[in-house]
Amino acid sequence: MLKGNVLAVTSGKGGVGKSSMSVNLALALQELGKSVAIIDLDIYGFSIPKILDIDYKPKTFNGKIIPVESHGIKVMSMGFLVKDNEPIVWRGPMLGKMIQHFTEDVLWGELDYFILDMPPGTGDVALDMHLMIPESKEIIVTTPHKAAAFVAERAGVMAIKSKHEVIGVVENMSYFLPDGVQKYFIFGSGGGEVLADQLHVDLLAQLPIQEPAESSETPAIAIGGTPLHREYMNLAKVIDSKF
Ligand SMILES: Nc1ncnc2c1ncn2[C@@H]1O[C@H](COP(=O)(O)OP(=O)(O)OP(=O)(O)O)[C@@H](O)[C@H]1O
Ligand SMILES: [Mg+2]
Repeated sequence: MLKGNVLAVTSGKGGVGKSSMSVNLALALQELGKSVAIIDLDIYGFSIPKILDIDYKPKTFNGKIIPVESHGIKVMSMGFLVKDNEPIVWRGPMLGKMIQHFTEDVLWGELDYFILDMPPGTGDVALDMHLMIPESKEIIVTTPHKAAAFVAERAGVMAIKSKHEVIGVVENMSYFLPDGVQKYFIFGSGGGEVLADQLHVDLLAQLPIQEPAESSETPAIAIGGTPLHREYMNLAKVIDSKF
């Protein structure tokens, strides 16, 4: 049992920014003074170690894992357990064991937030997570295109069916803001609103598209002072108010 608030970042759709959001939200919550961990539950497609630029493995103590810490965030990921980016070839039941391993065999201690970076879709991991961590609340991520929202919705329906509270929808890559004033809706619009309506929850945020900064080694992290960073700080406050 995790000792702290549990927030799953989910979507029926891949590539909408779940992992980037898990990291940026973790950092924003930390800026609010919260202690935060990220559990990377994308067992096959883990990406948190890469985003946080972690290239070392966790140590163990008395048979338990000491979580890796990066930017002050505690992290556990399948990426720490595999050799050199080898593919993971497992059947469903093994995935459930891994969720148990990541939650029960890691010395997390008591924290304010555990953020679960979910794999795309509504497969075995999502199903197991719903059964094993019933206290988890969820945000559903979509991009602004209405077709994306339609696919993203499946995760929301699944959460509701399994009686998980959906805190709300976050629309990512909503607009491009080249001069900080004029918004360009280059990926369409309305997806977040449609999804929030369908699920009867709030649209919590619409996050801008961030241009990859050449100087940044971890481009997915929102740099302080940017519109994306401001939006993440607001989102973190809204989410914190929902627990
Ligand atoms: N607001 C944003 N602005 C610009 N690029 C973004 C933004 N959010 C995410 N990205 C980029 O989009 C890509 C996909 O993001 P990410 O890996 O976080 O998505 P995901 O939903 O976790 O994908 P998967 O379903 O494969 O796990 C990454 O290259 C990421 O850097
Ligand atoms: Mg991901």
